[in-house]
Order: sequence, then structure tokens, then C-alpha cells
Amino acid sequence: MAYNLLKGKKGIIFGALNEQSIAWKVAQRCHEEGAEIVLTNSPLALRMGELNKLAEECNAPVIPADVTSNEDVTNLFTKSIEHFGGGVDFVLHSIGMSVNVRKGIHYTENNYDFTHKGLDISALSFHRVLQTAMKLDAINEWGSVVALTYIAAQRVFPDYNDMADNKAYLESIARNFGYQYGVKKHVRINTVSQSPTRTTAGSGVKGFDGFVNYAEKMSPLGNADANQCADYCVSLFSDLTKMVTMQNLFHDGGFSFTGVTAAVIEQMEK
Ligand SMILES: NC(=O)c1ccc[n+]([C@@H]2O[C@H](COP(=O)([O-])OP(=O)(O)OC[C@H]3O[C@@H](n4cnc5c(N)ncnc54)[C@H](O)[C@@H]3O)[C@@H](O)[C@H]2O)c1
Repeated sequence: MAYNLLKGKKGIIFGALNEQSIAWKVAQRCHEEGAEIVLTNSPLALRMGELNKLAEECNAPVIPADVTSNEDVTNLFTKSIEHFGGGVDFVLHSIGMSVNVRKGIHYTENNYDFTHKGLDISALSFHRVLQTAMKLDAINEWGSVVALTYIAAQRVFPDYNDMADNKAYLESIARNFGYQYGVKKHVRINTVSQSPTRTTAGSGVKGFDGFVNYAEKMSPLGNADANQCADYCVSLFSDLTKMVTMQNLFHDGGFSFTGVTAAVIEQMEK
């Protein structure tokens, strides 16, 4: 059901790769709620061609940008301003990648070139996006920026590897840039800490299925899916959450504050 929560708003959505992507669902929900959007992903991801389907469905232009490139990110914001005839009201950062995870390199053996690359793509890119937006004055007063994160930033999930460190850094940028952008232009910046979700990035983590099942059993409401995450992001882009900023917001069915559940105890007693 649509509520017109984003009627008249304009936004940029990073990170829709395929129909499983969280960003894909967010784009669909934003469109349903009346927003106009620009879609972006790395040139490599765009070569897969799937994004064109979403672009057509949402009537959105696709502007390529590798988030590790200042030039690409500047071009993205410049072209988006041209397209909309002004600034945007919301931005979704839904990007993550670890070469160490991809190559199955243990956390204690991390290759630092790979670590740098993953940090640049997964965390520093958030700073780059915000810095570029601020320089170009690309986000309107009371705009809203959301980045997706995972609870491994606070608690140890060994197979999440160096992505845990990347997420801790990402969440810190949300707080620190959130202060600066809040003071300067009332722009709010938050991270949404999502349940494990079956996507291309998610499934790259070792033992992911066990991970999903464990989280399901450890969450009083069960795992939140990608569509529910999209609903939450829409609420954060809407005018109903104007005073929420610099927060890491758990969207995980209660997992983050649950010590143990009857379902897990039952499993342990077997
Ligand atoms: N899937 C999960 O279990 C889960 C849980 C919590 C948080 N998250 C986070 O959600 C976000 C989205 O991931 P997803 O699960 O939808 O997977 P996904 O694989 O669909 O999305 C990851 C995106 O990052 C993009 N990307 C990678 N390198 C890039 C670059 N250099 N420039 C621009 N874009 C680049 C990819 O093309 C892809 O679109 C990530 O931040 C991820 O860490 C995922």
C-alpha cells in the first residue's frame, strides 16, 4: 500500500544490482511513494544490464559512478542536479564489498591491499558521497541520507571478517558527518542495521545460511526482509522522521537486544 510519503521528493539510490538487492526494493518503494529517483552503480555492475529493468519500472535515469572515484561521484551529483533542476531530498548508500571475504582470506591473515579496497568501497565512499554533496550543495534543507550496515560493527561475527571494521567506520561517519551536515543544512544522516538478507553481497559471507537461520531464531519478530527494510528507509526519507539523525537504527526484528530465545534454548537442549 502506498501513502504518498515521498510525493515531490527527489533522491539518488546507490547499490541496486539485481532484484535481490536491498537498494532495488528501496527504489521500488520510493517510486511507489511518489519520489523521483536517479539510480547509480559502478560501471562494472551496470555491464550486467539488470538495472535497466528497474530504471524502466521507476522511470529513472541511470548514471554510472564507481564510489571510489571523486570524479565519478562529482559527475553523478552534477548530472543529478541537472536532471532534477535542483538538489535532492534523499540519498541511499547501499554498498558493500570486501576482497578478503570474496577470496576467503581469514581475518587474522587479511591482505592489506584488499583491506584498503574494501574500506574505500564500503565505508570511505560514504564520506566521499557526503563531502561531494556538501561541496556541490546537492542535498536540500532537511534532506535525509541513509546507509546500510550490519550489527557486526558492534558485536563479533567472526566470518563477517574485515566488513565488521568497515561497518564500524561507516557508522562513525554517519555520526560525525551527521553533526556537520545537521548544523550546516539540517540534513540528517543515519545508518540502518539490517537483519541478514539473501542478496549477492550477503551470500558472499561464509556460513551465510546458518547465519540467517540463527538470526531468525534469535529475533522475537524473526528476520526483517529486504521489502521491510525498504519500508523503513522510506519512513526515514519522509518528513515523519525529521528530527532523527546521527543514529544507528536496528532493523532486525529485535535481534540486537535479545540475549536468548526459547527457540535457541530448545535447539541447545537437543
Ligand atoms: N545482505 C545482508 O545480509 C545485509 C545485512 C545488513 C546490511 N547489508 C548491507 O546492505 C548494503 C547492500 O547490500 P545487499 O545485501 O543489497 O547486496 P548487493 O550485492 O545487492 O549490493 C551491494 C552493491 O554494492 C555495489 N558496489 C560494489 N562496489 C561498488 C563500487 N566500487 N562503486 C559503486 N557501487 C559498488 C554493487 O554493485 C552492489 O550493487 C551493503 O552495505 C550491505 O553491507 C546487507
